[in-house]
Amino acid sequence: MDLQLKGRRTLVTGSSSGIGEGIARILAQEGCKVIVHGRNRERAEQVAADINAAGVALGDLSTDDGAASVYQSATAALGGNIEILINNAGGSSTGNTTKGPADISVDDYLSNFHANALSSVRLCRFAVPDMVAAKFGRIINVSSAVAVQPNNLGADYSGAKAALNNFTVSLAGSLKGVGITVNTVSPGIIMVDGLLRFGRIKYGDDSLTIEEVTQRLAADKVFDLPPAGRLGTPQDLAMVISMLASPLSGFVTGANYRVDGGQVRSLN
Ligand SMILES: NC(=O)c1ccc[n+]([C@@H]2O[C@H](COP(=O)([O-])OP(=O)(O)OC[C@H]3O[C@@H](n4cnc5c(N)ncnc54)[C@H](OP(=O)(O)O)[C@@H]3O)[C@@H](O)[C@H]2O)c1
Repeated sequence: MDLQLKGRRTLVTGSSSGIGEGIARILAQEGCKVIVHGRNRERAEQVAADINAAGVALGDLSTDDGAASVYQSATAALGGNIEILINNAGGSSTGNTTKGPADISVDDYLSNFHANALSSVRLCRFAVPDMVAAKFGRIINVSSAVAVQPNNLGADYSGAKAALNNFTVSLAGSLKGVGITVNTVSPGIIMVDGLLRFGRIKYGDDSLTIEEVTQRLAADKVFDLPPAGRLGTPQDLAMVISMLASPLSGFVTGANYRVDGGQVRSLN
């Protein structure tokens, strides 16, 4: 099936590694003109060269100036407004995994709100007026399973992702009949380098593969494998995002797609 993505001007934030890199790779394979984004120039340029991207944009999306600079350099490199915006950059900015909600500092809550909710809001403030003028746009916000099924720990991160889900629905509702869709995609646990590093440190063995780390963490009940029987891959996310990014998906908006192998037990 032709998803009609050829030549579409696309920014994938946080595509210098992990899930974003996987999304950027598949969208580039589908013919999108992709801008790779991150804070680390070397990694972003390496990915861009690897996937034959249209360019790179660097900047910290936790700040207004960083987001403005990313938007400007992305549109300049694309030679036009962004048609497909994948707001993927994020992750826990504090790394809190041991503190309960009442022990986490206000600064930590704010830090995660900037990194995981306002990072997307900032880019949407630039992108939406351009998309309205062009009468076409696809915005996909990468959230997390913990936005709707939070753990007792890490509430600074999960709360910020919940706000992102909420923002998605409001933005989708406000853009009536202008050709723009806004959706959330919520990963469960995905096999990225961060998980590999965590497992290798935990087991003191640098030779472990991502699959071995996953098996050992599951056996030690660090997490339960979801009904799919495995953890996710960046490609699992990229498949759903390609579908949502397509002009053919114009009737899907304000939705939250769980790509979590069945981790979240929810009827919707
Ligand atoms: N992996 C999972 O299991 C999982 C599960 C649920 C949700 N998610 C979500 O999926 C998204 C991608 O996560 P990942 O696991 O692929 O993480 P990752 O491998 O650590 O990659 C994160 C990417 O985001 C960029 N980034 C992070 N904070 C940024 C900021 N303030 N400004 C600009 N860029 C920033 C990083 O850029 P640099 O490294 O170049 O700075 C990097 O490109 C995140 O939103 C995360 O919350 C991940």
